[in-house]
Amino acid sequence: MTEQELWKLLDNMSLEEKAGQLVQCNAGQFIENHLEITGPNGESLPAEELNRVMGSVLTFEDAKQAKALQDKHLAADPNKIPLLLMLDVIHGLRTTYPIPLAMGCSFDDGLMAECADMARKESAACGVHVTFNPMVDTARDARWGRILETNSEEPLINSRMGAALVRATQGDSLADPGNVACCVKHYAAYGAGEAGRDYNTVDVSERMLRETYLPAYKACLRAGARLIMPSFNALNGVPSVANKHLMNDILRKEWGFNGVVISDYDAVGELVTHGIAEDLKDAARLAMEAGCDIDMVKNAYYLHLAELVREGKVAEEKLNAAVMRVLRLKNELGLFENPYHGADEEAEEKLYLCPEHREIARRAAEETAVLLKNEGILPFRKEVKRVALIGPFAEETRLNGFWSRPGAERYTVTIPEGIRALLPEVELVTEKGCGVEIGDTDLSGIDRAAEIAAGADAVILALGEPENYSGEGRSRAELTLPGPQLELARSVLQANANTAVILFNGRPLVLNGLARTAPAILEMWYPGTEAGNAVARLLWGEANPCGKLSAGLPRSVGQYPMPYNRMNTGRPKPEPDDQPAPFSSCYLDMPNLPLYSFGYGLSYTSFAYEKLELSRRTLEKGGMLQVTVTVRNTGSVPGKETVQLYFRDPVASVVRPVQQLLDYRKVFLNPGEAAEVVFTVREEQFRFYGMNGEEISEPGEIRISTGYADHLILTERFLLLPESVNDH
Ligand code: NOJ
Repeated sequence: MTEQELWKLLDNMSLEEKAGQLVQCNAGQFIENHLEITGPNGESLPAEELNRVMGSVLTFEDAKQAKALQDKHLAADPNKIPLLLMLDVIHGLRTTYPIPLAMGCSFDDGLMAECADMARKESAACGVHVTFNPMVDTARDARWGRILETNSEEPLINSRMGAALVRATQGDSLADPGNVACCVKHYAAYGAGEAGRDYNTVDVSERMLRETYLPAYKACLRAGARLIMPSFNALNGVPSVANKHLMNDILRKEWGFNGVVISDYDAVGELVTHGIAEDLKDAARLAMEAGCDIDMVKNAYYLHLAELVREGKVAEEKLNAAVMRVLRLKNELGLFENPYHGADEEAEEKLYLCPEHREIARRAAEETAVLLKNEGILPFRKEVKRVALIGPFAEETRLNGFWSRPGAERYTVTIPEGIRALLPEVELVTEKGCGVEIGDTDLSGIDRAAEIAAGADAVILALGEPENYSGEGRSRAELTLPGPQLELARSVLQANANTAVILFNGRPLVLNGLARTAPAILEMWYPGTEAGNAVARLLWGEANPCGKLSAGLPRSVGQYPMPYNRMNTGRPKPEPDDQPAPFSSCYLDMPNLPLYSFGYGLSYTSFAYEKLELSRRTLEKGGMLQVTVTVRNTGSVPGKETVQLYFRDPVASVVRPVQQLLDYRKVFLNPGEAAEVVFTVREEQFRFYGMNGEEISEPGEIRISTGYADHLILTERFLLLPESVNDH
């Protein structure tokens, strides 16, 4: 349709019909001819009425259901406006790849794009028009259960991986039925909830907001994401969905975003619970005024917008503008001509879990695993024949993590399956040993587990957090391994020193005890469908671990928040970190630094950083220079290394971070081989939020280093020239 035809369509709609376009229903249940609207929508209005007017739907099962939903709606809608079908496809649809936090550990935007491309194909076949992805909430507190949904504690990684995901998912044209639109979320600073509790209030300075939280959303919009979702939390006193500063000043005016804003689940209704709206009508007014277009699963807009317009409390132009944004998106997706978009049962059959997708998922699971410790026992030697696989995760199928589709565990390759496929000659004995829930206290299986361990050539000890301990609404105050897993570990490690611990979890955990006693620890996160194959290949050296931590692992919950790019203080703690230093910024009872820092991860080979060179010693406004890092594989097996570049601005008009990631690149090197990794660095990358609220870089020295957080090496310096002050 042309823009003119869309306006004509709008002109013919009643106020109620316009408001209907802004209603999103949870119509997950579609059985034969019956349509069930679940959640808050269904509480106040009959399904038939909602079906006639609603503009979009979230959460459905498959292509068959997608088509049925569309048919039923189009048959009832007098304006014949197709539905938008949305789904949370976060880390794969049927073929599940590792959780986003793990993907961050790959430090590989290309891998992210490959995984997103596979998810795009499966999603399009399923009939998805919009995915609620990427989630790019920078998160620095692992108590928050949703940390698993983000790529990193680091805004640069979130920006780059989020943008890579958007490009791969949306393709060149949304009219292509193989492409899916992206909704970036949760705008803004949802990851900064006080005390790490989900949905909790957020209070951050404008500088913190702009430097740490906003860049990733902005990068995803720049990459073309067509929708954005305001977060549940109140930001500096105003819930995001009604926050005019966020939505009007920054999103629409400053960034020029003209796509669709969709509330989070019932967030418009929750304006009443927050205590900033008197009732649902007031909530509808506030959200509309702030610029929220679609009301997810509440009927606030449908019940009240028409009346608010008639009363002159909401301008009709505002309503029209919101509806037009929704209609334009439908038009761009080609839904008026082809309301099914890519929904195709045969394509589903062909694509879901196909060998190519499994191969990508397996590779991703391997590249996201982080080897935290290895005292020479990994990879297992070929002579290892009798293996004890012990622990509550030994035969677990729920290794996919939050947001994997219902039933995902049916398709998981378990660890025993992976080992048997790779090494049929290995004699494998499995034993659970203990439970994994917080309340589990039963120690009766531990002795038997230790006995089995004692009789084996090698032990794999599979520990972790139950899959449902991280994700939405799953905050924890303690970050230790739940249940008697540490008791199990103690006995097994005593019985057999040739024990490798593998971990499955959705957040950084406190691993102090294990880190002291276990000779090898491999952090697998939730690796997804190909879990078992990846584990087997990593443990026996068919794959070489190369993941680097995308968020540091704390020594204690008490260290949070502990971003690696912390601001400098007037009394920074002097070295060594393991001793308290009087009247410095430190703890009396533990070091400041995490147990394992951001950017850390081992390999079966070793790498030497030989040189760091700058192409110039000065940099002017708008200019660039090159940084070359020479890295060599000094070990005996091929491997991948992530070269990380950091910078520090030692003197500025406002306090700056002690280290900040500037760029990263992963390289593959054969034994003895060296690579010169060249980074192009631009002056803009040294800008920060100045005293007067403008983005500036200031003249003076900049230090560039490589290595990883708090373990920087090979520092070089250059001068930002005075004219580099940004005067706009
Ligand atoms: C609530 C979650 O916060 C959000 O991430 C998700 O996209 C929506 N529900 C829809 O499922």
